[in-house]
Amino acid sequence: MKHLNLGAFTSHRGSNLQAIIDSCKDGRLNASMNVVISNNSGSQALQRAKNEGIPAYHLSNRLYPLNADLDRAIIAVLHKHNVELIVLAGYMKELGRDLLEEYKGSIINIHPSLLPRHGGKGMYGIKVHEAVLQSGDKKTGATVHLVKGEYDSGRILSQREIAVRDTDTVESLAARVLEIEHELYVATLAQISRGEILL
Ligand code: GRF
Repeated sequence: MKHLNLGAFTSHRGSNLQAIIDSCKDGRLNASMNVVISNNSGSQALQRAKNEGIPAYHLSNRLYPLNADLDRAIIAVLHKHNVELIVLAGYMKELGRDLLEEYKGSIINIHPSLLPRHGGKGMYGIKVHEAVLQSGDKKTGATVHLVKGEYDSGRILSQREIAVRDTDTVESLAARVLEIEHELYVATLAQISRGEILL
């Protein structure tokens, strides 16, 4: 079983981040969260990292207006903290070219739908669940996938489904999907560490 040296990128709430940190702490996952990076200085995610004593960095275009400079700063932080696998969890900024190249095949993301349904540019947060309800889908779920250049593309690594209920609202669906996201992200990382999923 391989120990995973993780780094997380997240912009707001950070509940997936917390689920992964908790599973590292209680031994469900053979991994460590070495660093948390956010483009949002006021994010709850950065606060969660600080509460856990995990190095937390605000790195954004506000500090580095040029993407190439931002990438260089991010890569330096990742190297400093020995990050081998980048976990995106609600990261609202597109990754730069240099970062994608440096960590090719070692960046994963979670999306709150059964990709390829309801993915792509502009499909995030409640917009995804609105689209599920509007299209009358009978099931939805979450997907963990490898990250390539474009939004929500890249090989699908794992998915978990839930049924859409007649009584579901955007809020109820969002809450149930988020719950399975937490389980799926941890389970997928565990499979990666056991060599059952190859990146
Ligand atoms: C999750 O629904 C995730 O699928 C999406 O953004 C949301 C992040 O939530 N990419 P949180 O910050 O992990 O609470």
